[in-house]
Amino acid sequence: MTPPFDSSLSPPFDSSLSLDLIRAHLKTRAIGVVLSVHDEVDSTNRVLADLARAGAPHGAVVVAESQTAGRGRLGRSWVSPPGGNLYTSILLATPPASNTLTWIPLLAAVAIVRAVTTLTSLSLTVKWPNDVLVTRDGRGGTARKLAGILVDAITTDQSGSKAVVVGIGLNVNMPSEAFPEDLRASATSLLIETGRPWERAPILAALLGEVERLDDQWRDQGTSGIAAAYESLCATIGKQVRIEMAGSGPIEGQAEGLASDGALRVRTEEGKLLEIRSGDVVHLR
Ligand code: BTN
Repeated sequence: MTPPFDSSLSPPFDSSLSLDLIRAHLKTRAIGVVLSVHDEVDSTNRVLADLARAGAPHGAVVVAESQTAGRGRLGRSWVSPPGGNLYTSILLATPPASNTLTWIPLLAAVAIVRAVTTLTSLSLTVKWPNDVLVTRDGRGGTARKLAGILVDAITTDQSGSKAVVVGIGLNVNMPSEAFPEDLRASATSLLIETGRPWERAPILAALLGEVERLDDQWRDQGTSGIAAAYESLCATIGKQVRIEMAGSGPIEGQAEGLASDGALRVRTEEGKLLEIRSGDVVHLR
């Protein structure tokens, strides 16, 4: 059992994430206007999906201090102890052009990078599709994962209306020893990277603001702006990669860029161009 890690982070550094505190920082029009904050849930994605089925509107947000069954990509779990991270889910109504839905996880990655780089001086990149990494240029070591995104597509009513739940886990005040041992070399937090604790409400407000900006842009202008922003942040493009895929063996090749739906284009050694839509990427060189 991972111990709680909040003992040294009492106010004024990081008081608990109350509704009022978040609202005091929030400058959005729609995202987070309906907001619920919980001490403990199984998964914020599950809670928000239920609220969506009960009629919660576009932009509804669920935040929790801890999750007992936080979910990650590819059936993994997301370590979610109490005391200082962000676990949040955002409901986005499906736009008319639902063939652009595959961009939502990439949109969320761009939003996290923008929010965190507005508030800190960290250098962040994205590993396809949506792992947000801190690059440790000049400090040795490989890039470490700061945040992850899990997007669930849901049906909200009997007429078949669709929406997406965008779940974001961002490690804020988690010290190294609070991560399970097998994650310590690959995961990080703002505390670890900057050497000091961070207030979560301004980070959450900045994140929701960036999601709103990108969501507006996506609905008004399509995906080209998001694609360009994502490509400029994506450390995978141009790299030799290995991709572990469920149900088949790994693939190796050169990541050449993105397809029109955000899939990763990979050129194998035999010269075949593949479009990868799901899998775990390892950057080789
Ligand atoms: C990943 O595997 O990288 C995705 C992790 C996503 C974790 C977040 S925490 C808030 C939301 N609720 C969940 O159960 N998962 C997502």
